[in-house]
Amino acid sequence: MPLHWPFFTRDLLSPSSAIKAEIATETKKRRTFAIISHPDAGKTTLTEKLLLYSGMLRTAGMVGGRKGKAAASDWMSLEQERGISITASAMQFSYKDTIVNVLDTPGHQDFSEDTYRTITAADSVIMVLDAAKGVEAQTRKLFEACRIRSIPVITFVNKMDLPNKDLLDLLSEVEEVLGIQSCPLNWPIGGGKEFKGILNRKNKEIHLYTRTGGAGSSIPDVEVLHLDSLVEHHSLSSEVIENLKEEIELLDEAGNTFTQEDFLAGKITPVFFGSAMINYGVEPLFDAFIDLAPCPSSRPADEKDSENELIIDPVEEPFSAYVFKLQANMNPRHRDCVAFLRINSGRYEKEQQVKHMRLGKKIRLSRPHSLQVSQRNTLEKAYPGDIIGIINSGHFKIGDTITTGTNFTYKPLPMFQPEIFASVRPLDMGKRKAIDKGMEQLAAEGAIQMIFDAENDGAFPLVGAVGWLQFEVLQYRLKDEYGVKTEVNKLPYTCSAWVFGDMATLKKPTGAKFVKDQYERLLLLFSDQWEKNYAIRENPDHEFRNFA
Ligand code: G4P
Repeated sequence: MPLHWPFFTRDLLSPSSAIKAEIATETKKRRTFAIISHPDAGKTTLTEKLLLYSGMLRTAGMVGGRKGKAAASDWMSLEQERGISITASAMQFSYKDTIVNVLDTPGHQDFSEDTYRTITAADSVIMVLDAAKGVEAQTRKLFEACRIRSIPVITFVNKMDLPNKDLLDLLSEVEEVLGIQSCPLNWPIGGGKEFKGILNRKNKEIHLYTRTGGAGSSIPDVEVLHLDSLVEHHSLSSEVIENLKEEIELLDEAGNTFTQEDFLAGKITPVFFGSAMINYGVEPLFDAFIDLAPCPSSRPADEKDSENELIIDPVEEPFSAYVFKLQANMNPRHRDCVAFLRINSGRYEKEQQVKHMRLGKKIRLSRPHSLQVSQRNTLEKAYPGDIIGIINSGHFKIGDTITTGTNFTYKPLPMFQPEIFASVRPLDMGKRKAIDKGMEQLAAEGAIQMIFDAENDGAFPLVGAVGWLQFEVLQYRLKDEYGVKTEVNKLPYTCSAWVFGDMATLKKPTGAKFVKDQYERLLLLFSDQWEKNYAIRENPDHEFRNFA
C-alpha cells in the first residue's frame, strides 16, 4: 500500500532552539555502554561497583546466587537483591556529572544474538579480562561485535589481587588475538597478595589502597602520592618499587601512544588494571571512562524511497529511535513482549505520537505501549543514548525505526554468524503450516535464524543460533503461541560464514554444507574452526564474512 504521509522539510520538523539546547546538554551528559566479558571474569562484580561508586548502593554486598544466575538476565537478580530499578535490558543512574546507561549483555548460558545486537546500541564498551586468563573465547566473539561498528573499547584487567599472567604478555595477547593496539593508561603496583594500588601513567599519580574489611563491600581508603615520593613509602618493598619503575620505563619507551582519535575509531584500547572485588583501581577506571567514552553521536540512516544516506544528528533532528532487542514472555499472562529501543535523536515525551517507518503508520507511545524503564517512576522524558522499553503487541521487529521526523530508517542490524545448528520438526506432521508460520515470525523478530538446505528444497527449514537458549525459547514459543510441539536435533556444525564470490570456482571442504539464509544469501556451515580457516585459505578470491 502506498504511503501518504504529509511532506515536511527537515527544518520545519526540527525542535525549537530552547529544546535543542536542552537536548544538547542532556546528550553531552550521557554515556551509553556495555560491559563485556567471558563468564566469571568479573562483569557482574564491576557493574555492582559502578553502582557503589555512583552512590546507588551504600554497600556492595555480594550478589547472592551467582552460580544459579537468573536465566533472563544477570541484572534481574541484581534488581531483586537490591530493590533498585533496572530494566531487563538497561540500567540508568548518575555517576558524578554524567548519566550512565549500562546495557545488559548476558554472556553466560543464555548467550544469544540479542547480546550481539545489544552491543550495537552502545556508544562504547568496557571489556573485562581476567588477569590470569587473558583473552578468552566469549570475549573474542563479543569483541568482534564491537569491531563491526568500530565501537571504542576500554579494557579493564581484573582480579589483580590474584596471581596473574605476565602483564606485557597479556597486552600482546590483546593485540594479537583481537587485532587492536593497546595502551595501558594506568599500571598496577604489585600483583596478587602484593597488589597495593595503581599508577596513573600520565600524571604519575599513585593511588595506594588500604583494605577496609568487608571483602570489597565498601570503598577502600586511598592515599594519593606522586611517583617521585614513592621511594620513601613504607608499605611497599624496594623490589616492588624497582619493578614498577622498570616497567614504566619500558612502557614509555616501547609502548603504543594513545590518542583519543584512535580510541574513538576503535583502533586502540586504553587499558586499566584493578580488582573489582576489593575496589582497587575501580574509581580511576570509572573516572577515566567518563572522560574518554563518547557521548551519543550521529548515526547513519537511509532516506525512505531514495538512495540517499542521511546522517542523523542527535540534537538537530527530531525524536528517533530503533528497536535493538525484543524480549518475549516478560509477563507470562500476556503474549506480548517488550521492545527495547535506543533513542538516537531528539527528545522522547510521554504520549508522543511517532511514525512507525516499516508499518507506515502513526502510533502513540502511551498506555498500550507503556514504558517499562522503571515501574517505580514513569518516564516523562528521555534523550539520545537512553533506552526505552515499550510493550510490543506485535508492532515491532528487530531493527524497526520510529521517528517524529522525516522519513528515514536506521540501517538494518547485522546478522551474526550462527554457531549452533539444528533441525526442528513438529511431533505431529499435520502441523507443518503452523510450524512454518511460527518459525517465519520468530526469524523475523530475530529470535532465531532460519536456514534452508540449498540442495534439498522440500526439506524442513533448519535453524541457526548463537546460543542454545535461542532453541529453548523457540521450542517454548512454538508450543505456546502456535500450538506445535517440536523435536530439535542438533547438527554437527560449529561455525559458519556468509560466502561472496563466484560459487562455480569455490573449493568447498568435503565436510562443509551449503545453506541459504532467510534472505537467500549463501551461508557455509563448517564442522570446526580448522575447516573454516582451511576454506578461507583455499579460496583467496572469495569473501567469508562472520556477519551480514
Ligand atoms: P561475571 O559476571 O563476569 O560472570 O563474573 P562475576 O562478577 O560473577 O565474578 C565471577 C567470580 O569472580 C565471583 O566469584 C567473583 O566474586 C569473583 N571476582 C570478581 N572480581 C574479582 C576480583 O577482582 N578478584 C577476585 N579475587 N575475585 C573476583 P564466585 O566465587 O563465583 O562468586 P561469589 O561467591 O564471590 O559471589
